[in-house]
Amino acid sequence: MIKRGRRLRINSAIRDLVRENQLNTNDFIFPIFVVEGENIKEEINSMEGNYHWSIDRLHEIIEEVESLNIKGVILFGLPKHKDECGSESFNNDGIVQKAVKKIKELSNNLYIITDVCMCQYTSHGHCGILDELNIDNDKTLEILGKIALSHARAGAHMVAPSDMMDGRVAYIRNILDENKYENVAIMSYSAKYSSYFYGPFREAAHSAPQFGDRKTYQMDPANSEEALREIEWDINEGADIIMVKPALSYLDIIRRAKDKINVPICAYNVSGEYAMVKAGAKMGLIDEKGIVLEMLLSMKRAGADFIITYHALEAAKWLKEN
Ligand code: PBG
Repeated sequence: MIKRGRRLRINSAIRDLVRENQLNTNDFIFPIFVVEGENIKEEINSMEGNYHWSIDRLHEIIEEVESLNIKGVILFGLPKHKDECGSESFNNDGIVQKAVKKIKELSNNLYIITDVCMCQYTSHGHCGILDELNIDNDKTLEILGKIALSHARAGAHMVAPSDMMDGRVAYIRNILDENKYENVAIMSYSAKYSSYFYGPFREAAHSAPQFGDRKTYQMDPANSEEALREIEWDINEGADIIMVKPALSYLDIIRRAKDKINVPICAYNVSGEYAMVKAGAKMGLIDEKGIVLEMLLSMKRAGADFIITYHALEAAKWLKEN
């Protein structure tokens, strides 16, 4: 007897009934880039449809995010000056700190996540404190702690360390708790690979390393056992959510993590993944809506609970149409 899988695909009603995974606007976090200055809404060359926003115009994008029913944003800041130890990153009046306060004024409901890292703030563009040509892990922890605390003070709901230093989750958890921010959550970029897919972001955030690369702290794309180890360590250190980044080339890592661990998983659909789709669509080579929704759905199918994506606004609109 023939096994007839097509019976359950015969019309859209039965396909809807047996569908295993759904993409929903609740799944999206939208990244926002904030800059010093006034009256700035400037499109980012490498990431069309995304902008640098000054604080006085943030309401425009926040209103749009809320009107689409997107539940959260993640903030990246471009400071007015950089130095060796990234001191603007933990300034209580720094760009991200001001943006968090502003968004809290604008919205009661939006969930605010901040990226905790030094690379946008250091003159050398690395994610930590330099000791000659090496990144000093333990000195960097002190700065990361200060950054996370300043974000919590400003009102962030969740901090997301993206630096890949060892021990940072425990270090940050401790500092937050000591300062009575025990309800501020930590989402750890646990399995963050040293990836060419970050290229467009580094142009957007002015954060490319001035020498060398990030291979001594970000993970080797060849490894997956190591990702599971990093994820387990971060959970043991107190991470509430773990992240796999990039997403598309690392769906196997998301699935393996989902099968093994028991905290929510975030997938970061990064800038290079976004830029490739935009370029393909511009050239008329792909159906952008179809491709984007399929890509995002595949991240959920792999096991992601939610997705950071530059496609969030468009995807939310498309899901409404469907
Ligand atoms: C900062 C950071 C990066 C991204 C998020 N946080 C860049 C990097 O590590 O080089 C990349 C995001 C993207 O490509 O969309 N450390």
